[in-house]
Amino acid sequence: MRSVIARVPAKINLVLEVGPARADGYHDLSTVYHAISIYDEVMATSTDGDEIEIRVVDTATQQAHSQVPCDAGNLAVRAARLLAERTDRPSAGVDLLIHKSIPVAGGLAGGSADAAAALVACNELWEAGLSRPELEEIAAELGSDVPFLISGATAIGSGRGESIMPALTRGAYHWVVVTFAEGMSTPEVYAEFDRLGGNDGEIGQATRRSLEALSSGDPGQLAPTLWNDLDEAALSLRPQLMDALDAGEQAFTLGGLISGSGPSVFFLASDQVSAEASASQLEDLGIGDSVLIAHGPVPGARIISS
Ligand code: C5P
Repeated sequence: MRSVIARVPAKINLVLEVGPARADGYHDLSTVYHAISIYDEVMATSTDGDEIEIRVVDTATQQAHSQVPCDAGNLAVRAARLLAERTDRPSAGVDLLIHKSIPVAGGLAGGSADAAAALVACNELWEAGLSRPELEEIAAELGSDVPFLISGATAIGSGRGESIMPALTRGAYHWVVVTFAEGMSTPEVYAEFDRLGGNDGEIGQATRRSLEALSSGDPGQLAPTLWNDLDEAALSLRPQLMDALDAGEQAFTLGGLISGSGPSVFFLASDQVSAEASASQLEDLGIGDSVLIAHGPVPGARIISS
């Protein structure tokens, strides 16, 4: 039996601008995706059967993950199934084993990341030979964030987030990420955004400001451009997130933001040493359920063993 392992990063949105609700229920976005060094690993092993099996292990505890459904609804299973269909392997089976470090329902695209890694791993395992743009096309059918997790680095997302264009950036950025055990539902946060009045103005301005700052390579310039149109909706559903955002100021970070639809909150530090110092201050303040340090940009889903 052959096995292939793909590693995939988490994402944060340095900017998330949300337009009005569309007829298909999605919202037009202008976003700046940024891949950071918190990783899941997906091992795909060939089988004789035609089933797609999945197990998910929490990397920290090495126990079965309690929050991830291991059925046909799992996005990684759907990714493998869709790739099999599109490459004329209707009866292809595979065992997927996911080692999970990215928090679930945390606004860090953990589920989308696993789908991207499953596509990349199965493409290699089945020697399907699809190019990365071809994989990104299939990825777009699985979820708005999945194409970005294939390409990684820093990219502008438009449409419902699935249409991506690489962004020119300089340097590396150091992040402190506060995560919470209890996730938030993305559709519920978007629904709250609409309930609070939504947005019928233009989107794209904050994205342009962020791109200008990213081309400087200076975290001091990037910090004031961090922007999330969903923050009010996420705070309305989870007011305690304000404590986390306030704590970032006390811990001397350059600036912070709710990631995507939340609840994870991330802070920008001036360098790695400052990130470590701020992270331990946030831990001492008892903020969140875990405090992680990460850097970005990093590449998207990649094979690390085959
Ligand atoms: O694309 P994905 O399946 O990740 O989206 C999950 C949910 O988030 C959608 O069903 C929708 O409610 C909301 N969403 C949205 N507009 C987007 C992306 C997601 O309303 N651009």
